[in-house]
Amino acid sequence: MRAIMVAGNWKMNGLNADAEHLTQAIIDAGLVPASPEVVLFPPFTLLTTVQQVAKGGSLRWGGQNLFWEAHGAYTGEISGAMLRDTGCRYVLVGHSERRQIFQESDEIVLRKVKAALHSGLVPMVCIGETEQEYLEGRTQEVLRRQVEAILPALGSAGQQANLILAYEPVWAIGTGKTASPAQAQEVHAFVRSLIAAKSPDIARKILILYGGSVKASNAKALFAEPDIDGGLVGGASLQAAEFIQICQAAHAVIRGL
Ligand code: PGA
Repeated sequence: MRAIMVAGNWKMNGLNADAEHLTQAIIDAGLVPASPEVVLFPPFTLLTTVQQVAKGGSLRWGGQNLFWEAHGAYTGEISGAMLRDTGCRYVLVGHSERRQIFQESDEIVLRKVKAALHSGLVPMVCIGETEQEYLEGRTQEVLRRQVEAILPALGSAGQQANLILAYEPVWAIGTGKTASPAQAQEVHAFVRSLIAAKSPDIARKILILYGGSVKASNAKALFAEPDIDGGLVGGASLQAAEFIQICQAAHAVIRGL
């Protein structure tokens, strides 16, 4: 049985007071330490605030990005070691906003995945097709390319999966249009089959989260699908009550309710 994870991607939103309030509200809801694993991805400037509030508990947090070099003259960049220094366990890599707005290629994504692993972080690698690719029926082709690009960094059989995947159809991000549970399940099963081609063992263990307009009203149906291991939540993770309800939906699925 794989775990279920709920992750909140705050993107470029929030100030210290917001981070303190949101993190405390999630802890107060009493969902953690019970599974699901809940992970917050605040902007870099809020990491120490989240760390201060969440330290010692079972809530986890991570960075939204990292650079592939360890240190040096790279103005504006941040390394895996710096993220670890603020208590991060995870880091997002290859979010579609980074791929599209900041031209991050599959090669860059692989370099960042390797850098994250090297620093002891667990990369959460985002993959997904654009609306145009979806309409042209190219979803599988795009996902195959994105997944195969990171396979060299995947752990070997017998080990725990060293990374997490998040399937986020770009047409569903921030649009309110969610993939139906059946539609998402079909894609997740396909992504898992791509991993299985390299390692059936890792394919069974790896978490594949769904992202794209996840909210309290659709979370349970999505998470109940056999190959959907939780969600990467953007907009709805900025409102404590909504995010807590999504975590509760995951909890209900775990308990078979
Ligand atoms: P959304 O964003 O939930 O606002 O659609 C998801 C994401 O980009 O990770």
